[in-house]
Amino acid sequence: MLTVEDNETLCRVGPGTEMGELFRRFWIPAAMSEELLEKDGTPLRVRLLGEDLVCFRDTEGRIGLLHERCPHRRSSLALGANERCGIRCLYHGWKFDVDGNCVDTPGEPPNSALKERVKAVAYPTVEKGGVIWAYMGPPEDQPPFPEYEFLNMPEGHSMVSKVQEECNYAQGLEGTIDTVHAGALHRTVRWHDEGKLAHEQVLYADVDVQHTSYGFRYAGLRKLPDGSTHTRVTIVPFPFFTFIPSPGSTQGRRLVNAWVPRDDVSTWHMQWFFNAEAPIDVEFRKKESGVHIKPDFTKKVGFAEWYNQDREAMKNDYFSGITGVVMQDHAVVETMGPISDRENENLGQSDLAIVTWRRMLIKAARNLARTGELPEILTNSAIDFSAIKSYEQIVPPGHDWKDDIQLEKMFESVE
Ligand code: FES
Ligand SMILES: [Fe+2]
Repeated sequence: MLTVEDNETLCRVGPGTEMGELFRRFWIPAAMSEELLEKDGTPLRVRLLGEDLVCFRDTEGRIGLLHERCPHRRSSLALGANERCGIRCLYHGWKFDVDGNCVDTPGEPPNSALKERVKAVAYPTVEKGGVIWAYMGPPEDQPPFPEYEFLNMPEGHSMVSKVQEECNYAQGLEGTIDTVHAGALHRTVRWHDEGKLAHEQVLYADVDVQHTSYGFRYAGLRKLPDGSTHTRVTIVPFPFFTFIPSPGSTQGRRLVNAWVPRDDVSTWHMQWFFNAEAPIDVEFRKKESGVHIKPDFTKKVGFAEWYNQDREAMKNDYFSGITGVVMQDHAVVETMGPISDRENENLGQSDLAIVTWRRMLIKAARNLARTGELPEILTNSAIDFSAIKSYEQIVPPGHDWKDDIQLEKMFESVE
Protein backbone atom coordinates (compact mmCIF):
# COMPACT_ATOMS: atom_id res chain seq x y z
CA MET A 1 0.00 0.00 0.00
CA LEU A 2 0.90 3.66 -0.24
CA THR A 3 -0.42 6.53 1.84
CA VAL A 4 -2.75 8.87 0.03
CA GLU A 5 0.01 11.50 0.13
CA ASP A 6 2.64 9.18 -1.41
CA ASN A 7 0.18 8.07 -4.06
CA GLU A 8 -0.48 11.69 -5.02
CA THR A 9 3.27 12.31 -5.29
CA LEU A 10 3.71 9.21 -7.45
CA CYS A 11 0.83 9.89 -9.82
CA ARG A 12 0.45 13.66 -10.36
CA VAL A 13 2.58 14.81 -13.27
CA GLY A 14 1.34 18.29 -14.24
CA PRO A 15 3.51 21.43 -14.11
CA GLY A 16 4.60 22.25 -10.56
CA THR A 17 3.97 18.77 -9.11
CA GLU A 18 6.91 16.92 -7.57
CA MET A 19 6.80 14.02 -10.04
CA GLY A 20 5.98 16.33 -12.94
CA GLU A 21 9.10 18.35 -12.20
CA LEU A 22 11.23 15.20 -11.98
CA PHE A 23 9.93 13.90 -15.33
CA ARG A 24 10.64 17.29 -16.91
CA ARG A 25 14.38 16.72 -16.25
CA PHE A 26 14.43 13.79 -18.70
CA TRP A 27 14.23 13.39 -22.45
CA ILE A 28 10.79 11.84 -22.89
CA PRO A 29 8.95 10.41 -25.92
CA ALA A 30 6.48 12.94 -27.35
CA ALA A 31 5.25 11.27 -30.57
CA MET A 32 6.28 8.71 -33.16
CA SER A 33 8.14 9.99 -36.22
CA GLU A 34 5.56 8.27 -38.44
CA GLU A 35 2.93 10.70 -37.15
CA LEU A 36 4.84 13.66 -38.52
CA LEU A 37 6.68 12.60 -41.65
CA GLU A 38 5.92 15.45 -44.00
CA LYS A 39 7.75 18.76 -44.08
CA ASP A 40 5.16 21.58 -43.89
CA GLY A 41 2.56 18.85 -43.22
CA THR A 42 -0.41 18.80 -40.87
CA PRO A 43 0.59 19.84 -37.33
CA LEU A 44 0.11 17.28 -34.61
CA ARG A 45 -1.63 17.96 -31.30
CA VAL A 46 0.29 16.33 -28.46
CA ARG A 47 -0.76 16.12 -24.84
CA LEU A 48 2.22 15.46 -22.57
CA LEU A 49 2.52 15.68 -18.76
CA GLY A 50 -0.80 17.52 -18.68
CA GLU A 51 0.33 20.18 -21.20
CA ASP A 52 -1.32 20.71 -24.58
CA LEU A 53 1.32 21.10 -27.28
CA VAL A 54 1.52 21.39 -31.04
CA CYS A 55 4.24 19.57 -32.95
CA PHE A 56 5.19 20.41 -36.55
CA ARG A 57 7.93 19.59 -39.04
CA ASP A 58 8.99 22.74 -40.82
CA THR A 59 10.17 23.38 -44.39
CA GLU A 60 13.73 22.36 -43.47
CA GLY A 61 12.61 19.18 -41.65
CA ARG A 62 13.22 20.67 -38.20
CA ILE A 63 10.70 19.83 -35.50
CA GLY A 64 8.89 22.42 -33.44
CA LEU A 65 7.12 21.54 -30.20
CA LEU A 66 5.26 24.57 -28.85
CA HIS A 67 2.51 25.25 -26.36
CA GLU A 68 -0.66 24.81 -28.35
CA ARG A 69 -2.28 28.14 -27.49
CA CYS A 70 -1.16 31.10 -29.55
CA PRO A 71 0.63 33.74 -27.45
CA HIS A 72 -1.58 36.44 -29.03
CA ARG A 73 -5.14 35.60 -27.94
CA ARG A 74 -4.81 31.88 -27.22
CA SER A 75 -6.32 30.21 -30.27
CA SER A 76 -4.96 26.74 -31.13
CA LEU A 77 -1.84 26.87 -33.29
CA ALA A 78 -2.71 23.35 -34.46
CA LEU A 79 -5.29 24.97 -36.77
CA GLY A 80 -2.53 27.10 -38.29
CA ALA A 81 -0.71 26.94 -41.62
CA ASN A 82 2.65 25.15 -41.52
CA GLU A 83 4.67 26.95 -44.19
CA ARG A 84 7.98 28.60 -44.92
CA CYS A 85 9.72 27.59 -41.72
CA GLY A 86 7.02 28.33 -39.20
CA ILE A 87 3.45 27.87 -38.07
CA ARG A 88 1.07 30.74 -38.80
CA CYS A 89 -1.93 31.14 -36.51
CA LEU A 90 -5.27 30.99 -38.27
CA TYR A 91 -6.86 33.79 -36.27
CA HIS A 92 -4.68 36.85 -37.02
CA GLY A 93 -1.74 35.37 -38.88
CA TRP A 94 1.01 35.65 -36.28
CA LYS A 95 3.81 33.24 -37.13
CA PHE A 96 6.22 31.25 -34.92
CA ASP A 97 9.34 29.27 -35.79
CA VAL A 98 10.46 25.94 -34.26
CA ASP A 99 12.26 27.78 -31.44
CA GLY A 100 9.09 29.69 -30.51
CA ASN A 101 10.31 33.00 -31.93
CA CYS A 102 7.54 35.25 -33.22
CA VAL A 103 8.61 36.06 -36.78
CA ASP A 104 5.54 37.90 -38.09
CA THR A 105 2.66 39.97 -36.65
CA PRO A 106 0.93 41.10 -39.86
CA GLY A 107 -1.92 43.01 -38.18
CA GLU A 108 0.41 45.26 -36.18
CA PRO A 109 1.83 48.58 -37.42
CA PRO A 110 4.81 48.14 -39.79
CA ASN A 111 7.22 49.61 -37.26
CA SER A 112 5.92 47.54 -34.33
CA ALA A 113 8.53 45.87 -32.13
CA LEU A 114 5.90 43.64 -30.53
CA LYS A 115 7.23 40.46 -32.13
CA GLU A 116 10.61 40.94 -30.46
CA ARG A 117 8.87 40.74 -27.07
CA VAL A 118 6.54 37.82 -27.79
CA LYS A 119 7.71 34.22 -27.57
CA ALA A 120 5.85 30.91 -27.68
CA VAL A 121 6.93 28.30 -25.14
CA ALA A 122 9.06 25.87 -27.19
CA TYR A 123 10.69 22.62 -26.05
CA PRO A 124 13.87 21.15 -27.56
CA THR A 125 13.42 17.89 -29.47
CA VAL A 126 15.56 15.00 -30.68
CA GLU A 127 14.45 12.37 -33.19
CA LYS A 128 15.71 8.88 -32.38
CA GLY A 129 14.49 5.27 -32.55
CA GLY A 130 11.39 6.20 -34.56
CA VAL A 131 10.31 8.70 -31.91
CA ILE A 132 10.36 12.46 -31.36
CA TRP A 133 11.72 13.11 -27.86
CA ALA A 134 11.14 16.29 -25.90
CA TYR A 135 12.89 18.02 -23.04
CA MET A 136 10.39 20.09 -21.03
CA GLY A 137 12.54 21.18 -18.10
CA PRO A 138 14.75 24.15 -17.25
CA PRO A 139 17.40 24.73 -19.97
CA GLU A 140 20.24 24.67 -17.44
CA ASP A 141 19.36 21.08 -16.45
CA GLN A 142 19.01 19.65 -19.98
CA PRO A 143 20.85 16.30 -19.91
CA PRO A 144 22.72 14.63 -22.78
CA PHE A 145 20.47 12.34 -24.80
CA PRO A 146 20.67 8.75 -23.43
CA GLU A 147 21.94 6.59 -26.28
CA TYR A 148 20.22 3.34 -25.34
CA GLU A 149 20.82 0.27 -27.47
CA PHE A 150 17.18 0.08 -28.63
CA LEU A 151 17.36 3.56 -30.15
CA ASN A 152 20.27 2.73 -32.41
CA MET A 153 19.20 -0.40 -34.29
CA PRO A 154 19.89 -1.02 -37.99
CA GLU A 155 16.95 -0.59 -40.41
CA GLY A 156 14.42 -3.45 -40.03
CA HIS A 157 15.77 -4.55 -36.65
CA SER A 158 13.27 -2.63 -34.55
CA MET A 159 9.74 -1.34 -34.50
CA VAL A 160 7.97 1.12 -32.26
CA SER A 161 4.25 1.31 -31.55
CA LYS A 162 2.00 3.22 -29.20
CA VAL A 163 -1.47 2.91 -27.78
CA GLN A 164 -3.29 5.09 -25.30
CA GLU A 165 -3.93 3.56 -21.91
CA GLU A 166 -6.87 5.04 -20.02
CA CYS A 167 -5.31 5.38 -16.59
CA ASN A 168 -2.38 6.84 -14.71
CA TYR A 169 1.08 5.88 -16.04
CA ALA A 170 2.16 4.13 -12.81
CA GLN A 171 -0.48 1.41 -13.15
CA GLY A 172 0.76 0.39 -16.58
CA LEU A 173 4.39 0.43 -15.57
CA GLU A 174 3.80 -1.63 -12.46
CA GLY A 175 2.31 -4.36 -14.65
CA THR A 176 5.64 -4.93 -16.39
CA ILE A 177 7.67 -5.28 -13.22
CA ASP A 178 5.25 -7.86 -11.92
CA THR A 179 6.79 -11.25 -12.59
CA VAL A 180 3.97 -13.39 -11.24
CA HIS A 181 1.19 -11.94 -13.37
CA ALA A 182 2.54 -13.52 -16.57
CA GLY A 183 1.58 -17.00 -15.38
CA ALA A 184 -1.91 -15.90 -14.34
CA LEU A 185 -3.22 -13.10 -16.57
CA HIS A 186 -1.37 -14.27 -19.70
CA ARG A 187 -1.94 -17.96 -19.03
CA THR A 188 -2.35 -19.79 -22.34
CA VAL A 189 -4.46 -22.55 -20.77
CA ARG A 190 -7.36 -22.65 -18.30
CA TRP A 191 -6.50 -22.15 -14.62
CA HIS A 192 -6.64 -25.81 -13.59
CA ASP A 193 -4.96 -27.17 -16.73
CA GLU A 194 -1.27 -28.05 -16.69
CA GLY A 195 0.63 -24.95 -17.80
CA LYS A 196 2.50 -25.15 -21.10
CA LEU A 197 5.14 -22.58 -20.23
CA ALA A 198 7.56 -22.64 -17.30
CA HIS A 199 6.07 -19.52 -15.67
CA GLU A 200 2.58 -21.04 -15.96
CA GLN A 201 3.68 -24.19 -14.13
CA VAL A 202 5.28 -22.38 -11.20
CA LEU A 203 3.92 -18.91 -10.57
CA TYR A 204 6.10 -18.27 -7.57
CA ALA A 205 9.49 -16.74 -8.25
CA ASP A 206 12.03 -15.28 -5.86
CA VAL A 207 12.41 -11.60 -6.68
CA ASP A 208 15.79 -10.06 -5.97
CA VAL A 209 16.42 -6.35 -6.49
CA GLN A 210 19.65 -4.46 -7.13
CA HIS A 211 19.92 -0.66 -7.12
CA THR A 212 21.98 0.76 -9.97
CA SER A 213 23.19 4.05 -11.33
CA TYR A 214 20.27 4.26 -13.78
CA GLY A 215 17.50 3.13 -11.40
CA PHE A 216 17.32 -0.54 -10.49
CA ARG A 217 17.14 -4.00 -11.96
CA TYR A 218 15.63 -7.14 -10.56
CA ALA A 219 15.74 -10.84 -11.20
CA GLY A 220 12.86 -13.30 -11.15
CA LEU A 221 14.57 -16.51 -10.01
CA ARG A 222 12.97 -19.93 -10.43
CA LYS A 223 14.74 -23.07 -9.21
CA LEU A 224 14.69 -25.84 -11.79
CA PRO A 225 14.65 -29.58 -10.89
CA ASP A 226 18.34 -30.02 -11.88
CA GLY A 227 19.43 -27.38 -9.33
CA SER A 228 20.05 -24.65 -11.89
CA THR A 229 18.16 -21.36 -11.78
CA HIS A 230 16.03 -19.79 -14.47
CA THR A 231 16.87 -16.08 -14.26
CA ARG A 232 14.89 -13.25 -15.87
CA VAL A 233 16.47 -9.85 -15.39
CA THR A 234 14.26 -6.81 -15.95
CA ILE A 235 15.82 -3.35 -16.16
CA VAL A 236 13.96 -0.37 -14.70
CA PRO A 237 15.62 2.92 -15.63
CA PHE A 238 14.33 6.34 -14.62
CA PRO A 239 11.86 7.76 -15.23
CA PHE A 240 9.27 5.35 -16.67
CA PHE A 241 11.03 2.70 -18.76
CA THR A 242 11.08 -1.07 -18.37
CA PHE A 243 13.41 -3.32 -20.37
CA ILE A 244 11.87 -6.77 -20.58
CA PRO A 245 13.75 -9.96 -21.41
CA SER A 246 12.19 -11.96 -24.22
CA PRO A 247 12.83 -15.67 -24.48
CA GLY A 248 16.15 -15.88 -26.24
CA SER A 249 17.13 -12.38 -25.17
CA THR A 250 20.69 -13.50 -24.67
CA GLN A 251 20.62 -13.62 -28.47
CA GLY A 252 19.62 -9.98 -28.73
CA ARG A 253 15.80 -10.09 -28.93
CA ARG A 254 14.28 -7.64 -26.50
CA LEU A 255 11.37 -5.39 -25.61
CA VAL A 256 11.38 -1.92 -24.10
CA ASN A 257 8.27 -0.25 -22.69
CA ALA A 258 7.72 3.40 -21.86
CA TRP A 259 4.71 4.69 -19.96
CA VAL A 260 4.59 8.29 -21.00
CA PRO A 261 2.03 10.31 -19.03
CA ARG A 262 -0.37 12.29 -21.27
CA ASP A 263 -1.78 13.65 -18.04
CA ASP A 264 -2.73 12.23 -14.63
CA VAL A 265 -5.35 9.84 -16.01
CA SER A 266 -4.11 8.73 -19.43
CA THR A 267 -0.86 7.37 -20.77
CA TRP A 268 1.00 6.65 -23.99
CA HIS A 269 2.06 3.03 -23.75
CA MET A 270 5.00 2.86 -26.16
CA GLN A 271 6.83 -0.32 -27.08
CA TRP A 272 10.02 -0.97 -28.99
CA PHE A 273 10.64 -4.52 -30.18
CA PHE A 274 14.16 -5.02 -31.41
CA ASN A 275 16.80 -7.56 -32.21
CA ALA A 276 20.40 -6.46 -32.56
CA GLU A 277 21.33 -9.57 -34.50
CA ALA A 278 18.50 -10.14 -37.00
CA PRO A 279 15.55 -8.33 -38.62
CA ILE A 280 12.29 -8.64 -36.69
CA ASP A 281 8.86 -9.83 -37.81
CA VAL A 282 6.80 -6.65 -37.61
CA GLU A 283 3.49 -8.26 -38.61
CA PHE A 284 3.79 -10.93 -35.94
CA ARG A 285 4.43 -8.31 -33.28
CA LYS A 286 1.41 -6.26 -34.30
CA LYS A 287 -0.83 -9.32 -34.23
CA GLU A 288 0.47 -10.53 -30.87
CA SER A 289 -0.42 -7.28 -29.13
CA GLY A 290 -4.11 -7.96 -29.83
CA VAL A 291 -4.76 -4.23 -29.89
CA HIS A 292 -6.64 -2.60 -32.73
CA ILE A 293 -6.29 1.13 -32.67
CA LYS A 294 -8.10 4.14 -34.08
CA PRO A 295 -6.17 6.83 -35.99
CA ASP A 296 -5.72 8.73 -32.70
CA PHE A 297 -4.10 5.63 -31.11
CA THR A 298 -6.94 4.94 -28.69
CA LYS A 299 -8.21 1.36 -28.60
CA LYS A 300 -11.14 0.24 -30.73
CA VAL A 301 -12.10 -2.18 -27.98
CA GLY A 302 -11.53 -1.09 -24.40
CA PHE A 303 -13.27 -0.52 -21.09
CA ALA A 304 -16.61 0.45 -22.67
CA GLU A 305 -16.68 -2.89 -24.53
CA TRP A 306 -15.40 -4.71 -21.42
CA TYR A 307 -12.42 -5.76 -23.55
CA ASN A 308 -14.65 -8.18 -25.49
CA GLN A 309 -14.00 -10.69 -22.76
CA ASP A 310 -15.18 -14.10 -23.94
CA ARG A 311 -16.65 -16.23 -21.13
CA GLU A 312 -16.85 -19.30 -23.40
CA ALA A 313 -13.13 -19.04 -24.09
CA MET A 314 -12.54 -18.85 -20.33
CA LYS A 315 -14.51 -22.09 -19.84
CA ASN A 316 -12.98 -23.97 -22.75
CA ASP A 317 -9.70 -22.42 -23.76
CA TYR A 318 -7.66 -19.96 -21.68
CA PHE A 319 -7.79 -18.10 -18.41
CA SER A 320 -8.43 -14.44 -19.27
CA GLY A 321 -10.87 -14.70 -22.20
CA ILE A 322 -9.29 -11.50 -23.51
CA THR A 323 -7.44 -11.59 -26.82
CA GLY A 324 -3.82 -10.48 -26.90
CA VAL A 325 -1.13 -9.79 -24.32
CA VAL A 326 -1.29 -5.98 -24.42
CA MET A 327 -5.09 -6.03 -24.27
CA GLN A 328 -4.94 -8.25 -21.20
CA ASP A 329 -2.45 -5.90 -19.55
CA HIS A 330 -4.57 -2.84 -20.27
CA ALA A 331 -7.74 -4.52 -18.97
CA VAL A 332 -6.32 -5.29 -15.54
CA VAL A 333 -4.85 -1.85 -14.94
CA GLU A 334 -7.57 0.32 -16.50
CA THR A 335 -10.18 -1.41 -14.33
CA MET A 336 -8.29 -0.14 -11.24
CA GLY A 337 -9.77 3.27 -12.10
CA PRO A 338 -8.06 6.40 -13.48
CA ILE A 339 -5.72 6.56 -10.44
CA SER A 340 -5.53 3.42 -8.32
CA ASP A 341 -6.42 3.85 -4.62
CA ARG A 342 -3.21 2.28 -3.40
CA GLU A 343 -4.06 2.90 0.26
CA ASN A 344 -6.42 -0.06 -0.06
CA GLU A 345 -3.88 -2.54 -1.45
CA ASN A 346 -2.52 -5.60 0.36
CA LEU A 347 0.93 -6.26 -1.04
CA GLY A 348 2.80 -9.56 -0.99
CA GLN A 349 6.39 -10.63 -1.30
CA SER A 350 5.97 -10.91 -5.06
CA ASP A 351 5.36 -7.14 -5.22
CA LEU A 352 8.92 -6.33 -4.17
CA ALA A 353 9.96 -4.80 -7.49
CA ILE A 354 6.85 -2.61 -7.52
CA VAL A 355 7.51 -1.39 -3.99
CA THR A 356 11.14 -0.66 -4.93
CA TRP A 357 10.10 1.32 -7.99
CA ARG A 358 7.56 3.44 -6.09
CA ARG A 359 10.07 4.23 -3.33
CA MET A 360 12.78 5.09 -5.84
CA LEU A 361 10.59 7.49 -7.78
CA ILE A 362 8.95 9.17 -4.80
CA LYS A 363 12.33 9.65 -3.12
CA ALA A 364 13.85 11.14 -6.27
CA ALA A 365 10.90 13.50 -6.81
CA ARG A 366 11.01 14.75 -3.22
CA ASN A 367 14.81 15.08 -3.29
CA LEU A 368 14.55 17.28 -6.33
CA ALA A 369 11.76 19.38 -4.81
CA ARG A 370 13.53 19.84 -1.46
CA THR A 371 17.21 19.99 -2.36
CA GLY A 372 17.42 20.41 -6.13
CA GLU A 373 19.38 17.16 -6.31
CA LEU A 374 18.97 15.13 -9.52
CA PRO A 375 19.07 11.31 -9.76
CA GLU A 376 22.42 9.79 -10.68
CA ILE A 377 21.24 8.75 -14.16
CA LEU A 378 21.12 12.45 -15.07
CA THR A 379 24.46 13.43 -13.59
CA ASN A 380 26.83 10.47 -13.97
CA SER A 381 28.57 10.93 -17.32
CA ALA A 382 30.26 7.51 -16.95
CA ILE A 383 27.00 5.64 -17.56
CA ASP A 384 27.18 3.68 -20.82
CA PHE A 385 23.51 3.63 -21.86
CA SER A 386 24.17 1.30 -24.78
CA ALA A 387 25.25 -1.44 -22.33
CA ILE A 388 22.02 -1.51 -20.31
CA LYS A 389 20.22 -4.71 -21.32
CA SER A 390 17.57 -7.07 -20.06
CA TYR A 391 18.25 -10.78 -20.40
CA GLU A 392 17.06 -14.25 -19.54
CA GLN A 393 19.25 -17.26 -18.90
CA ILE A 394 19.68 -20.48 -16.96
CA VAL A 395 22.58 -20.35 -14.55
CA PRO A 396 24.30 -23.21 -12.70
CA PRO A 397 23.98 -23.79 -8.93
CA GLY A 398 25.98 -21.33 -6.85
CA HIS A 399 25.91 -18.59 -9.46
CA ASP A 400 24.84 -15.13 -8.20
CA TRP A 401 22.93 -13.24 -10.88
CA LYS A 402 24.23 -9.96 -9.47
CA ASP A 403 27.70 -10.88 -10.72
CA ASP A 404 26.38 -11.42 -14.23
CA ILE A 405 28.03 -10.69 -17.51
CA GLN A 406 29.81 -7.70 -18.84
CA LEU A 407 27.74 -5.06 -17.14
CA GLU A 408 29.09 -5.21 -13.62
CA LYS A 409 30.53 -1.70 -13.75
CA MET A 410 26.98 -0.42 -14.25
CA PHE A 411 25.62 -1.99 -11.16
CA GLU A 412 27.20 -0.22 -8.28
CA SER A 413 24.60 0.38 -5.65
CA VAL A 414 23.38 3.92 -5.16
CA GLU A 415 22.03 3.19 -1.71
S1 FES B 1 -4.78 34.36 -31.65
FE1 FES B 1 -3.14 33.72 -32.85
S2 FES B 1 -2.72 35.41 -34.13
FE2 FES B 1 -4.29 36.11 -32.85
FE1 LIG C 1 1.61 -8.48 -18.91
